[in-house]
Amino acid sequence: MPAVIKDLRPERDEKFARIISVGGYRPPRIVTNAEVCERIDSTDEWIKERSGIESRRWAGPTESVVDMAVAAAEKAISKAKITSDQISAVIVATITYPYQTPSAATDVALRIGNPKAAAFDISAACAGFCYGVGLANDLIRGGTAEYVLVIGVEKLTDFIDLDDRSIGFLFADGAGAVLIGPSSTRGIGPTVWGSDATAREAINQKSSWLALKPGDVHENPDLHWPEIQMQGQAVFRWAVWQMAPIATKALEAAGVAAADLDAFIPHQANARIIDAMVKALALPSHVPVSKDIKNSGNTSAASIPLAMEAMLESGEVASGGTALLIGFGAGLVYAAQVVQLP
Ligand SMILES: CC(C)(COP(=O)(O)OP(=O)(O)OC[C@H]1O[C@@H](n2cnc3c(N)ncnc32)[C@H](O)[C@@H]1OP(=O)(O)O)[C@@H](O)C(=O)NCCC(=O)NCCS
Repeated sequence: MPAVIKDLRPERDEKFARIISVGGYRPPRIVTNAEVCERIDSTDEWIKERSGIESRRWAGPTESVVDMAVAAAEKAISKAKITSDQISAVIVATITYPYQTPSAATDVALRIGNPKAAAFDISAACAGFCYGVGLANDLIRGGTAEYVLVIGVEKLTDFIDLDDRSIGFLFADGAGAVLIGPSSTRGIGPTVWGSDATAREAINQKSSWLALKPGDVHENPDLHWPEIQMQGQAVFRWAVWQMAPIATKALEAAGVAAADLDAFIPHQANARIIDAMVKALALPSHVPVSKDIKNSGNTSAASIPLAMEAMLESGEVASGGTALLIGFGAGLVYAAQVVQLP
């Protein structure tokens, strides 16, 4: 029996929300560690041991963030058995849509056939999906929306230097979408979120690009996109030491004990970070833990919905099970919540 997310402050006529469906999109191109090592000075053994990654997906040159988002969204919408015009809001969590405006979300809304939905993007890096789930839950519970489409999508290969060995093996591409809608019981626990903005520099974009004019990047083959760079060790230490207490707070807020979880689906940043969190949470061995990073790499905002879909499809966890989600990344920012799986 899945654990029940406690209603800590019951109110008359209170509305609830739940994740109704999940859909993922993985670009067809599988890139092995051997292929990555043709570009960086590294080895398959080092990458596996330090990150847990064996292969990842890279999008094709013409495959865009919106293409991937729409593919994942259409899967989630069809599984939810609703029509796209029932969606009140489209939220896209991404840090790799290459335009400031108009948003990726408006293009997704247009392409799924609902150009009237409220639509906006979230820039919360690897925490973006959990930020979106928290917002969607509050929008539905507050009566502002009925169905909300939340998509985590990244084409990180456009925003990293694939020849940089500190990062070229880690990040990858993909999209995951969930349809969140009304529920008679609480299907999403309170979101515990926040930031450590004093560590903004730990993951950032090379600032020299900011001096460029739009168009320069395309006109000059020597210029690169504003590549993401990262202080890997600092982020690693922050995640290992600071994120388990946040996960514990999310469990407490939902009134669920770690031992009663049916799955732990953390952001797929690094398998060693996941192992350290499992240890710090004293998660019993009967709770399945996602290690989707093995064949997906770190897909930032897309990693949690992709991992969720993979666990459900493999039968590692059943529909209706209770899962702890936690996302964390550039900002530094984080968000966690307990959810009932679709
Ligand atoms: C990136 C990451 C895998 C690197 O692992 P690490 O164990 O911290 O590695 P370090 O940077 O300490 O480097 C260790 C050694 O490996 C070397 N090294 C670095 N990259 C390498 C690579 N790709 N291949 C082989 N050796 C490499 C370093 O030069 C260093 O060598 P030295 O000991 O001789 O000086 C790890 O720091 C990480 O995952 N950090 C968090 C990243 C993350 O989650 N970012 C996104 C936010 S969600």
